Amino acid sequence: MKELVQLSVNGQTHDLVVRPERTLLDVLREDLGLTGSKRGCDLGACGACAVLLDGRPVSSCLTLAVEASGHEIVTVEGLARGGGLHPVQEAFVEHGAVQCGFCTPGMLITVTALLDERPEPTEAEILEALSGNLCRCTGYVKVLDAVRTAIRRMRQPGLPGSVAPEVRA
Ligand code: FES
Ligand code: FES
Repeated sequence: MKELVQLSVNGQTHDLVVRPERTLLDVLREDLGLTGSKRGCDLGACGACAVLLDGRPVSSCLTLAVEASGHEIVTVEGLARGGGLHPVQEAFVEHGAVQCGFCTPGMLITVTALLDERPEPTEAEILEALSGNLCRCTGYVKVLDAVRTAIRRMRQPGLPGSVAPEVRA
């Protein structure tokens, strides 16, 4: 048996026929070609597959595509605005918070959701938000530096020290 789902992803609506057991992660990666969301554990434990569902971060490996039907989904591909990186993405690049990059899409989604809800989170709130995003490379120091920079920049757009032109290219 298959079901008709309507997924609104990064502002585009897709009508798809899927088996009911298929996850949102499968459909994003395999049917829509949006491979930014990564498959890490497939168990809801690593955060690599995080996407925004109506503005809240969820594990797309634990969300069925049919559950996401009719809701607004944003993947890491949808974070950039007007041809430029999101301030959180800029800050991750600037601070070298990206190493192998596997955890990065999920981290960007988590941090963006946090700052949308709390523009000035405490250190404890940042750590709590990131507690579901596992990284084997960065040790989190650079990630936290990036988050602090993103907070400053989102509060005062145009602050000096944005990403160097060669990084933007
Ligand atoms: S792949 Fe979904 S939480 Fe790890
Ligand atoms: S940068 Fe490699 S797992 Fe996070």
